[in-house]
Amino acid sequence: MEIELTEEQQLLRDTVRRFAADVVAPRAKEIDASGEFPLDFFHQAGELGLAGVSVPEEYGGAGMDLIAYCLAIEEISKVCASSGVILSVNNSLVCDPLARYADEAQKRDFLTPLAAGRKLGCFALTEAEAGSDAAALRTTARRDGDRYVLDGGKVFITNGTHADVAIVFATVDPEKKHKGITAFVVPTDTPGFSRGHHEYKLGVQASGTTQLFFEGMSIPASQRLGEEGEGFKIALATLDGGRIGIAAQAVGIAQGAMEAALAYAKERKQFGRPIADFQAIQFYLADMAMEIDAARLLVFKAAWAKTNQKRYSLEAAQAKLFASEMAQRVTNKALQIHGGYGYTRDYDVERFFRDARITEIYEGTSEIQKLVISDAILRDA
Ligand code: CAA
Repeated sequence: MEIELTEEQQLLRDTVRRFAADVVAPRAKEIDASGEFPLDFFHQAGELGLAGVSVPEEYGGAGMDLIAYCLAIEEISKVCASSGVILSVNNSLVCDPLARYADEAQKRDFLTPLAAGRKLGCFALTEAEAGSDAAALRTTARRDGDRYVLDGGKVFITNGTHADVAIVFATVDPEKKHKGITAFVVPTDTPGFSRGHHEYKLGVQASGTTQLFFEGMSIPASQRLGEEGEGFKIALATLDGGRIGIAAQAVGIAQGAMEAALAYAKERKQFGRPIADFQAIQFYLADMAMEIDAARLLVFKAAWAKTNQKRYSLEAAQAKLFASEMAQRVTNKALQIHGGYGYTRDYDVERFFRDARITEIYEGTSEIQKLVISDAILRDA
């Protein structure tokens, strides 16, 4: 595995860094407070190739590798975690399964506009009674001639408030447990599709989290993704990739908090000198820098594994578990360095602190990552 970035990767990182500073950062605080979904940002990011970084150019993407994708998510999340997850979901959870499992017509009709950022996607797996136990989902898909009729509902769907397209998981036969689960690609203007309220959350306020409902929603069988009964494996394989994106998001949040704390420590004076002169603060900064680096290397390793291995569940789970827990520790220390000011809304560090928390929950909780890691270790032992 190469650990030096190629020229192309560095160029991408620098371009995204400028875009993040010029376009994303100025509105980050405002959209966190209002919860407004930054749809215009998403379309602009699409023009830069960030809606489908690793999707081949012939299908609307930027045709870059997964390290480049992780760098892009990190740079955006460094200034706005909501924008980071909006892109991560569109890339990893929507474009990636379409690139892998869609037929040519589905790629033309759905993948191409999604990867170009002309359309926004969401991933509809989680239900009220099926979170960690994803196989317990109850949304049904009944075959009706050359169509399917879907009934049920989903919760906590990132991008759900504004998505044009949803990847929906439903069961064709609940008796078959996970072997009945089937994936569909559904335009959200399909009759029978509706949305619930926008969830008001602790962090990532602007990521458009909502419920989705399907009531007698009839779709052509040509919108089935993969075969009947293949949906659970599609969901879990897709989540392996998604977890790499969330790990990159956690690295970005931590890096943003670290940079804020570093600047503050050099400028804030107590006892007649900048607090960066005190060893207590220096040791915090040393731990933070080391942990961020370690997490970033795990992210790169997972991206490398996804590129080179058939299965990469272990590497993805390790990167997500470590990076998300690291982001709690780093944002906590960054807030501590800011003292009382860090607890106010005048500084960005409280937002980083709140935003970091979700990375331990969505796309598989820390406990689920430990299950995946231990399963892989035991299988290979
Ligand atoms: N890739 C491909 N196939 C996989 C797989 C993977 N990563 N993991 C398991 N499978 C296969 C197994 O080989 C098995 O296949 P067979 O039937 O042929 O033997 C099948 O799937 C069932 O496997 P398990 O018995 O291990 O499945 P399980 O029901 O015990 O579930 C789990 C395993 C790890 C707990 C899984 O359910 C899981 O990851 N749960 C967490 C769900 C999750 O991450 N939800 C996040 C929601 S999405 C979100 O947050 C998006 C957002 O908006 C930000």
